[in-house]
Amino acid sequence: MRYISTESLCVTPIADDIPFGAKVNGLDLESTYSPNIREQMNRLLEIHGLLIFENIQPTNCMQAAISEIFGDDQAHDVGSQIPEGDNVKGFLDSENDGVVEVDGVQVENFLPWHFDQCYAAKLTRGGILRALSIVPEGGLTGFSDGIQLYNAVSPALRERFETFDILYDSALQFWNMRFGRPTSYKPVRVSKIVAEQLRSTSRVRSIHPAVWRRPTGEKVLHISPMQAAGIAGLESVEGDILLEQMCREMYSKMIPYYHRWKPTDMVIWDNWRFIHMVTGHSPAHVRNMRRTIIFGDYGLGRREH
Ligand SMILES: [Fe+2]
Repeated sequence: MRYISTESLCVTPIADDIPFGAKVNGLDLESTYSPNIREQMNRLLEIHGLLIFENIQPTNCMQAAISEIFGDDQAHDVGSQIPEGDNVKGFLDSENDGVVEVDGVQVENFLPWHFDQCYAAKLTRGGILRALSIVPEGGLTGFSDGIQLYNAVSPALRERFETFDILYDSALQFWNMRFGRPTSYKPVRVSKIVAEQLRSTSRVRSIHPAVWRRPTGEKVLHISPMQAAGIAGLESVEGDILLEQMCREMYSKMIPYYHRWKPTDMVIWDNWRFIHMVTGHSPAHVRNMRRTIIFGDYGLGRREH
């Protein structure tokens, strides 16, 4: 089942030139409770890795209902109040988080390529994201498929990484990132939350494989440039050069999809397979996103000690 079209549900490719993902139209609150629809949605996520739900009722209730199709929400302790009367736990809001200068341009909300919670041993299944306020230009969410990356990068370089594990450190984010950095990347005005995250000292590094094989057989190249600390067992000049080379190779061979938000979109991605990013936007505008996190783990990560 690659794409389906029934009386109520229409599943189509994202675009002619994007080899992953699918658009889903016709999902309403009632249908999220149908066991048949739930099974179909989970299969679609497994196959396509990125689902864009269009023309969705833009409410917390609907967002939670879609999340529950794929697993339990993971309540998060950071975030804003859920509006009264919409008593749903597990939302994380991200508003403008500070201005950075990226390659000479001042932008807000720029987020480099990463997968979520690489700095933890357990990897969440994914997230459901929707836009509460949309900026007129920029502020796109980019997605890159690890299966496409695995098949596209240089086989010689890929072979080195088949058995490598990558170390991740939560402090190596934003302009502190070590690998795959923009040419120039520096803080201009830092939000309180970001400053606190970067000050955190009680951290233990995590380790995740650079390549893993899905139960369905495909291999996934899964490296988060943001927060990568090095290659486990090869924290040396040679190892660092290799990891930097692989990040550059990923950037040059990826076929990314950049989502331009509408208020009635909700998007879920497979965090075990994709990396994602946010393009910056003018600090003159406010971008506000609301996310749920889907519990789960692929079982291949660990703590360093
Ligand atoms: Fe993220």
